[in-house]
Amino acid sequence: MYGRKIAIITGASSGIGYEATLEIDRRFNSLEEIWIIGRNEEKLNALAAKLHRSVRIIMMDVTKQSDIDALEGLLDQYEPNIRMLFQSAGEGLHGRFMERTAKDQTYMIDLNCKALTNIAHICIPYMRKGSHMINLASSAGFIPLPSFAVYGASKAYVLNLSRALNYELAKRRIHVMAVCPGPVDTPFFDKSERYYDDETFMKFKSLFMNTPKRVAKKAICDAALYKSVSTDTILITALRFISKLYI
Ligand SMILES: NC(=O)c1ccc[n+]([C@@H]2O[C@H](COP(=O)([O-])OP(=O)(O)OC[C@H]3O[C@@H](n4cnc5c(N)ncnc54)[C@H](OP(=O)(O)O)[C@@H]3O)[C@@H](O)[C@H]2O)c1
Repeated sequence: MYGRKIAIITGASSGIGYEATLEIDRRFNSLEEIWIIGRNEEKLNALAAKLHRSVRIIMMDVTKQSDIDALEGLLDQYEPNIRMLFQSAGEGLHGRFMERTAKDQTYMIDLNCKALTNIAHICIPYMRKGSHMINLASSAGFIPLPSFAVYGASKAYVLNLSRALNYELAKRRIHVMAVCPGPVDTPFFDKSERYYDDETFMKFKSLFMNTPKRVAKKAICDAALYKSVSTDTILITALRFISKLYI
């Protein structure tokens, strides 16, 4: 009655999404196929070669409606049973609001919020009891962040959307979790800091920096425990609760 059991990972070509794909491949023996999404074909091919089951490489720009429509078409064609949707595609641009272009900042909203929402919406009909959706938010979503304002706001959106969906989908026993790491050592910072170098943030970064492998592993473990929010270290967990005192 149900199609093949699959996992879908966006942002699989790099960083946290890449490590999450390896971890999902290692841990979820019942999966029949893994669909990996990104724009960098070379990196996706290299990742596919490391996986132990059938892989579908989906080259797509998640901000393009035509690419979202194509993914929806694939789901319609194969009617898979999505056991895991891991949404990691995203970027963050540092800098004061008026020093960045509106175009760059609204692109962040398109990528971090709109694309993630579109993909959740087309995938949920193919998720069943016991399926997981894991969305990459960030500890940057805990409080308003001057000089990282749009990024922080976009991640607050992902955090709140995920928690709300976790309630909405509880009746169908579909679990939704937001991942809120501190700084993670990935190519994310090559882009985010290209035009900006803030001393306070650099100190915060060096104090909290984690590896993508540890963040991905912790997220998959926390999903197995049906947590609604995954934080990567005790310090970031403390930051989450302290931030609730901020008005
Ligand atoms: N690194 C951190 O400190 C940190 C901390 C907290 C949260 N996060 C969040 O974690 C997630 C993953 O970040 P990361 O650190 O792993 O960064 P990363 O190594 O730069 O990976 C970003 C991924 O997003 C994909 N992507 C970007 N734009 C895309 C588009 N338009 N269409 C399709 N795929 C796109 C990239 O794939 P292609 O290049 O192949 O398109 C890449 O696989 C992001 O949502 C980020 O906001 C990161």
